[in-house]
Amino acid sequence: MTRNYRSQLTGLFGDPVDDNPTGIMEEAGYAARGLDYRYVTMKVSREDLPDAIRALRALNFRGVNLTMPHKIDVLPLLDELSAAARIIGAANTVIVEDDGRLIGENTDGKGFVEALARAGIGLDGARVTILGAGGAARAIGVECALAGASSLTVINRTVARAHDLADLIDSQTPASADASAWTPGIGVPEGTDVLINATSIGFSPDSDARPDIDYSTIVPGMIVSDVVFSPARTRFLQAADERGATTITGLGMLACQGARNFTLWTGVDAPLDVLEAALAAELARE
Ligand SMILES: NC(=O)c1ccc[n+]([C@@H]2O[C@H](COP(=O)([O-])OP(=O)(O)OC[C@H]3O[C@@H](n4cnc5c(N)ncnc54)[C@H](OP(=O)(O)O)[C@@H]3O)[C@@H](O)[C@H]2O)c1
Repeated sequence: MTRNYRSQLTGLFGDPVDDNPTGIMEEAGYAARGLDYRYVTMKVSREDLPDAIRALRALNFRGVNLTMPHKIDVLPLLDELSAAARIIGAANTVIVEDDGRLIGENTDGKGFVEALARAGIGLDGARVTILGAGGAARAIGVECALAGASSLTVINRTVARAHDLADLIDSQTPASADASAWTPGIGVPEGTDVLINATSIGFSPDSDARPDIDYSTIVPGMIVSDVVFSPARTRFLQAADERGATTITGLGMLACQGARNFTLWTGVDAPLDVLEAALAAELARE
């Protein structure tokens, strides 16, 4: 019998990165599918990213995720980008092909769209309002537009970034977009079908914080979603619940993008329920 003591390697580059739970989720999935894969969480500084990316080939990695501050810096270090990564201008996933080529992909926005779809929510013709214009907002905005949203409004503290994202959506997707500066207590635009907090406001340990908007402009039936996943039931979502909105936590997005990455690296269908349960259990433990 041929013995194999070498696991297939995947992981995460970031800084800070120590409290990122993605590895728990992916390794639960590998175990459930009987795959000899490992997911290693690695602290990589901005200056060391080129060396770390070169090391992927030398160490025969199958791929990695990227988190702050690497999602944009990684682009020139890769051989090829998916259409989504190119339009969004950021990659959260690298796939190492058998011939050593490095492919950049962005699964954040697709994970978001998929999490809505799993809750029975489609985006065809939807009017979407996004709070924030950073990496998560860009990925979500572009993928919502590609998934059929008809119009998007981007509201951001730094208004120039809001305009950048709105211009990107206008020029690269079939949807139309506009931008607003985030003034304190700003109202949700009338007619919004889907409202998304794509900022880091409310993330633990600042879980008492919530976006400064006029919550009375959230109406029953509106879909309200948060990218923050720890805690899952953010104060933003609690307030939206009180207004009669349908709320979607950031856990589904994280699990859905994790499932996509799992399949990109292993070629095997991901056990999404296992990923989601592992993540929820880990976050409940904190
Ligand atoms: N659930 C998931 O699967 C998932 C996936 C990816 C990311 N995330 C989460 O998404 C969040 C954002 O990540 P990112 O990569 O987009 O970060 P980022 O690129 O640094 O962008 C942060 C955004 O939040 C805004 N912001 C931060 N603090 C604010 C405040 N006090 N008031 C108003 N706006 C504020 C920033 O506005 P300015 O432009 O004015 O600075 C910017 O638009 C993080 O919490 C991350 O963990 C979740």
